[in-house]
Amino acid sequence: QGSKLWGGRFVGDTDPIMERFNASIAYDQRMWDADIRGSKAYVKALEKAKLVTTVEMNQILQGMDQVCDEWSKGVFVIKPGDEDIHTANERRLKELIGAAAGKLHTGRSRNDQVVTDMRIWLRDAISTLTENALQLVSTMVERAAAEIDVLFPGYTHMQRAQPIRWSHWILSHAVALSRDVDRLNEIRKRVNVLPLGSGAIAGTPLEIDRELLQKELAFDSISLNSMDATGQRDFVVEFLFWASLCLTHLSKMAEDLMLYSTKEFSFITLSDAYSTGSSLMPQKKNADSLELIRSKAGRVFGRCAGFMMTLKGLPSTYNKDLQEDKEAMFDCYDTVHAVLQVTTGVMSTLKINQSVMEAALSPDMLATDLAYYLVRKGVPFREAHGISGKAVFAAESKNVALNQLTVEDLSVISPLFESDVSSVWNYRSSVEQYSAAGGTAKSSVTAQIEHLRNWVKKQ
Ligand code: ARG
Repeated sequence: QGSKLWGGRFVGDTDPIMERFNASIAYDQRMWDADIRGSKAYVKALEKAKLVTTVEMNQILQGMDQVCDEWSKGVFVIKPGDEDIHTANERRLKELIGAAAGKLHTGRSRNDQVVTDMRIWLRDAISTLTENALQLVSTMVERAAAEIDVLFPGYTHMQRAQPIRWSHWILSHAVALSRDVDRLNEIRKRVNVLPLGSGAIAGTPLEIDRELLQKELAFDSISLNSMDATGQRDFVVEFLFWASLCLTHLSKMAEDLMLYSTKEFSFITLSDAYSTGSSLMPQKKNADSLELIRSKAGRVFGRCAGFMMTLKGLPSTYNKDLQEDKEAMFDCYDTVHAVLQVTTGVMSTLKINQSVMEAALSPDMLATDLAYYLVRKGVPFREAHGISGKAVFAAESKNVALNQLTVEDLSVISPLFESDVSSVWNYRSSVEQYSAAGGTAKSSVTAQIEHLRNWVKKQ
């Protein structure tokens, strides 16, 4: 067990199957840069505490730069026995600079080291995802602005409900995404807390200046309790939950678009760049991009639920179970990173079929407006709703469209219907009525666009 970080009290060798089972290097090597940054900061704190000399510190710093160089050039060689990224980097440092490398881990544990690496890695990942999400929001907002005059049917319960602007639909999803970005900013504060200096459980008995570490590593704050710092992973769970919620939003949007892209709807045409074909049916053009976007919500939530099950029932402080945090975190990052970019591609390239969308509107979707016509004449809404419903029934019985009922037909139902009722049967003036904040009128949708544009600028 000579080459191991912990071999001293061992006599027998590790079983080779156990060795592989225990190792995390296959995936935690992604944190090589964070691990090196953490070690470089730590050796400065050791020097300040006079636990290494200035000469030794410089040896370690230069050695770490060399290790960094090897990783960035892709020539770092992982050796058998490199259990994890922390072991690998320290092993290589020792090969490069010799004995001084053995001082780097003074007062440090992999328990505070690993969680420091993860927090550094995750805050960078969060910055990238924020950019990806902002790009998507901007794409959607500009599309909404460009196509603001397009109307189409809005659905509730997947049944035809009311005429709305296509832009109103786009923005409904953009607004949800903007909340996801806000949430990610919130999470970042709780991620960017320095655990280094917590040791394995009890803290450090050495003169390690944690404020120096905080400054060197650009953390917002310093962890309050060493047992909490090394033994909790709620910052990972928050990220996994965030990923689940964000992809749940995109899954909903993808599902709508999939429906709109069917021949039966034909509201939109997906770009060839985001579609695939069938190996059997030559005519097929499948919306695989949308289906995969939809599917990834399940994958990511599975990671979240799985890792929470790992945490449930764990005793306090570091347990090896916590090693499971990394694959969940990396996989959720990779998945959301890809989904956001593909969704941006889909949203910037799909074509809408305006005439089909508008032709899909039908007078029954104005039955609510027919009730409002009576409300404006003083009829209580409950009653107006009933009268309009009777008009819908009359039209269905006569087998005509709602707007085909004559004023005479209508006046049998209510004497308040007069010839000006014809003004109800206009989709454009219908949507224009919905001008209160948040509605589908042009002025209100324009205000939403402006709001989101300003919000993007402030990020
Ligand atoms: N590879 C380990 C992990 O990912 C590093 C921490 C190991 N700590 C320990 N006490 N064995 O969690």
